[in-house]
Amino acid sequence: MNKTGKDQLKRKFAPLLLKWNKEKNKRQMPWKGEKDPYKIWLSEIILQQTTVKQGWAYYNTFIQRFPDVHKLARASDENVFKLWEGLGYYTRCRNLLATGRYISKELNGVFPSTYPDLLALKGIGPYTAAAISSFAFNLPYAVVDGNVFRVLARMFGISKAIDSTGGKFFFTTLANELLDKKQPGLYNQAIMDFGALVCKPALPVCSECVFKKICYAFLTNSVQELPVKENSTTIRKRWFYFLVLEYKNKMAIRQRTEKDIWQDLFEFPLIESEVELDKKKILQQLKKKTGLLKKDYDILNYSPLLKQKLTHQLITGQCITIRLKQKPGWKNDWFWVTPKEIIKYAFPQFINQFLQKKER
Ligand code: ADE
Repeated sequence: MNKTGKDQLKRKFAPLLLKWNKEKNKRQMPWKGEKDPYKIWLSEIILQQTTVKQGWAYYNTFIQRFPDVHKLARASDENVFKLWEGLGYYTRCRNLLATGRYISKELNGVFPSTYPDLLALKGIGPYTAAAISSFAFNLPYAVVDGNVFRVLARMFGISKAIDSTGGKFFFTTLANELLDKKQPGLYNQAIMDFGALVCKPALPVCSECVFKKICYAFLTNSVQELPVKENSTTIRKRWFYFLVLEYKNKMAIRQRTEKDIWQDLFEFPLIESEVELDKKKILQQLKKKTGLLKKDYDILNYSPLLKQKLTHQLITGQCITIRLKQKPGWKNDWFWVTPKEIIKYAFPQFINQFLQKKER
């Protein structure tokens, strides 16, 4: 996007967002419009742990049991932990209690009312400090959460990674530039709602979007490519079924020559698939690969599912032990080794898991 286009989009962004908010946003949540920093804080900490739908019930329970920070501060650890149950990541709960007690005792229950003072509290990071500053005190700090990253990345065509330090700084700077400084609370809630209702991660509602004439991603057909994450290489799933062919106390193995992750390691005859195979399909492939017919072998064992996680791949599969009734006549690079000899060869971890169990 050129500079003129970008400047124009920057000018139009907040007014269009607030227009959408006023005319189309019907989302209701118990913490929406709340001015009490204690309640805003509680809601934001809970929402870091769960979805709005699930967080709703937790929020109501917490507010009912601890309507103010003194009540929370006086509660026992056990009681608060019990209410937190199901949200996970108990460090957040411990921080909640520590900060609640600090505000109750040291600050006489008065919540800090500036961004830096809020940021100094345990468990409160830039996001929560911006949320409390803007919702409770109408201070001009833009929230930058997953919704905001997504909306801005698409709208402005930003391909900087949202999980990189440089990317975070870039998005935060832009978010604060776009913020409506006169009504930061309203604006912050609006952009989060917009991200959750319209500019959704999957199936965004572009056809009805107020930004469709100016959104970079919509105009360039790149909505699904944005935002970009540094660590989001998709994991390729592969299914490996190794045939442990046994004949007279020997097994067939070969050295891998494929230029891949397991280059030069040894392996059993392999059936590879992009999807999981059932026993029937495995036997069909066995016939295809080796020419062996049912009368030529007995299946001794299907191993439990084995897994090996690599940087960009997840290998799942099984080793299938098959006793041959006669030595097969096929010509290829397989050779036969005894259990004693096999330990001299290097195998992928995937196969080692199987061999170690087999030995015992
Ligand atoms: N997620 C985190 N805070 C939120 C809020 N105030 N409204 C909607 N979703 C949120």
